[in-house]
Amino acid sequence: MTPIPVILDCDPGHDDAFALLLAAAHPAVDLLAITTVAGNAPVGKTALNARRVCTVAGIGGVPVAAGLARPLHGAGITAPEIHGASGLDGPGFGEPAVPLDPRDAITLIRETLLGHPGPVTLVPTGPLSNIAAFLLAHPELAAERVDRIVLMGGSTGRGNRTPAAEFNIAADPEAADIVFSSGLDVTMIGLNVSHQVPASAEVLTRLRALGTPLAEVCADLLTFYGAAYREVFGLAAPPLHDPLTVAHLVAPGLVSTVPAAVAVELTGTHTRGATVVDLDGVTGRPANARVGTGVDAAAFWDLIVDAVRTLGARGPLTG
Ligand code: RIB
Ligand code: CA
Repeated sequence: MTPIPVILDCDPGHDDAFALLLAAAHPAVDLLAITTVAGNAPVGKTALNARRVCTVAGIGGVPVAAGLARPLHGAGITAPEIHGASGLDGPGFGEPAVPLDPRDAITLIRETLLGHPGPVTLVPTGPLSNIAAFLLAHPELAAERVDRIVLMGGSTGRGNRTPAAEFNIAADPEAADIVFSSGLDVTMIGLNVSHQVPASAEVLTRLRALGTPLAEVCADLLTFYGAAYREVFGLAAPPLHDPLTVAHLVAPGLVSTVPAAVAVELTGTHTRGATVVDLDGVTGRPANARVGTGVDAAAFWDLIVDAVRTLGARGPLTG
């Protein structure tokens, strides 16, 4: 089977890091480029973190570019309470062996699409600022060369940044509205799915049992991330949101989805950034997305552990 060409747009971010690992490790994905966006941390830090993850995981030859430093409208938000001041607290990282691409994210997306022989899948796991900016700047190229967008964001239920809004959407609601209104094939994997995959103590045990430096880094990441989720949300184990996007690509059916009309609330005093998902078709609006509803959690964790095992066996980049 021909690997799926993917551009990962992320804000690492502990869970973004695992999305990156899975995308790089799995044979069903051809990871063409990594773009970063302001979200969990300022964009300079998310770009550095993407380079750090590529270095420790031995992911070479994939360009990493930094994108928008703020949302399309208003001031940005970050999540140091979850990801730490660096955006990737927990393990110690040395100097990255992966350079920052001199192009900005939108240019890298454009040139990657133009340079690839066929359509490419965009996998956003952070605020949708870069994706929206690309769609606004290059609508024809997007229509011609973007196969689908599989994003982590939103929720069919409660939010996590506010009671109504999930972080990625809350960070840039206008960008999310542009993506959901684009007419492209959009899949939304939200909190209602990601909270079905908490990174339990058993997962950490499986990772540490791999016995590689990368596995230790991954376990240390999840240890920090888990402590943050216990502190902030009182959860026993942290949901590993972002790699569900890649898992959905490599294992169709692992995440179950239904077609639905998704609207992004832009003006609500208490609800701005909410994804209003019409699961029952009561609005009469046509479906504009496939919305995640369930996941095979055991299969998901097998994919994660296998990815760490695969990359750990290769070793880190050494500059
Ligand atoms: O709400 C969870 C999402 O926001 C994840 O993508 C996490 O990394 C943060 O970006
Ligand atoms: Ca993220």
